[in-house]
Order: sequence, then C-alpha cells, then structure tokens
Amino acid sequence: MSQHTHIPVIAIDGPSASGKGTVAQIVADRLGYHYLDSGALYRIVALVARRQAIDWRDEHALAEMALQLDIRFDGNRIWLGNGDGREDISDAVRTEEMSRGASEVAVHPAVRAALLDLQHSFRQVPGLVADGRDMATVVFPDADTKIFLTATAEVRAERRYKQLMSKGNHANLADILQDLQARDARDRQRSVAPLQQSSDAELLETSALSIEQAVESVLAHHRKSQAK
Ligand code: CDP
Repeated sequence: MSQHTHIPVIAIDGPSASGKGTVAQIVADRLGYHYLDSGALYRIVALVARRQAIDWRDEHALAEMALQLDIRFDGNRIWLGNGDGREDISDAVRTEEMSRGASEVAVHPAVRAALLDLQHSFRQVPGLVADGRDMATVVFPDADTKIFLTATAEVRAERRYKQLMSKGNHANLADILQDLQARDARDRQRSVAPLQQSSDAELLETSALSIEQAVESVLAHHRKSQAK
C-alpha cells in the first residue's frame, strides 16, 4: 500500500427526498469537508442527453457523453462548459423531469462506470461527505462512516412538496408521492448498484427528526469512527 494519508469519507445513502442532501451539506460545512452530490451527476447526464438528443435508453451514447462532461461545482451552483460560454444549470437539473431522467440513465452499468473516476476525484483533504444511493456500497466502500438515511414515503413526499413550493414551483402532493414511489422502486430493483442499506451502515430514520437532530447523529457516528 502507498504511504499517502487516509482521507476520511462520510457516505450518506438513502431514497429520494429523505433529506440526505441537506444533512450531508450541513455536515460537510461543520467539518470543513468537501461535498459530493452524486445524484447531480446523473441529473446532468439526463439534461445534457436531452439537449444532445441522446435517448435516455441509449447506454453507449450516454456513457461516452458522461466521460466527456465539462462541469464544475461551485458551492451550490453547477456550471456546464467554461469561460464565457459556461452556463449555470443548477436549476435546470432540479426539475421533476430531470429527477425522472436521472433515475432512468442511472440504470445503465456503463453510465455508472463512466462517472466513477469523477466521483473519486472529490475525495480530497481534509475529507469528503458524499450523498447518493451507492456511496457506501460501490463508490466509497472503505468510507469511515456509512449512514443510510431514510423516512417514510409520505414524509418524504411532503418534504419534496415544501421544497418545490418554496422555490415557487407548482406542485401536487399526490403526484409527488406517486413519482417518488416509482423512482424508489426503480432505484431498488435495478441490477447494478441498487438502492440498499450497506450491511455495515447505520440506519438513520428521520421521519420524526429535525434536520439538526439528523446532523448531530451523523456527526456523532463520525466522531466514533474517527476515535477508533
Ligand atoms: O434529490 P433526490 O434524492 O430525489 O435525487 P438525487 O439524489 O438527485 O438522485 C436522482 C436519481 O439519480 C436517483 O433517483 C437515482 O436513480 C440516481 N442516483 C443513483 O443512481 N446513484 C447515486 N449515487 C445517486 C443518484
């Protein structure tokens, strides 16, 4: 083994709208760690595919495009391209249409493989908080702290509803619940990197927890793993 320093990773996986993104970001801020929103990568692939008229079922073309993505994360913003021609796509990837697209392109093994190096490149000192579906199982199996963060489908639908309304988007709670359940099923049933709790991950059920309580719980687990 090489002598380089171990860079700690906190892997937070869980279903849609469980609040893992919010919790992961706050945990990263508190610790001064970097943050990887891996779902954003699948959303970007879906968006760029749509613009380049690549079918979401065309595994080969999607994977080739994913390998060449020219993107930058800057705080909460996502930029496509660079220089004067760059475009802020942060809002364009967050639509319900791209939520669906992300989960459709994410079923392809070649697309997932194409995004692996990019995800690993986020692991930089002093540490990384990574959120997604397969952070603990596939992308960072040696993560120091593994959390499976979830909540009931009803609670998650309500959280997503409030999030959309607060951004001034039109939303319908029943449609959101239905979409979310369809996406959960697709994420759990796919053959590559399905959504599942890693056997060595801590389960964090947040239906009755505030964001702050969830953040505290993740930090406590991480302190414990770092003390070992
Ligand atoms: O915000 P939300 O949890 O609804 O979605 P997201 O985390 O942005 O992920 C969007 C979609 O990308 C998910 O439904 C998954 O199908 C896919 N995804 C994945 O397959 N693997 C990941 N590590 C992250 C997301």
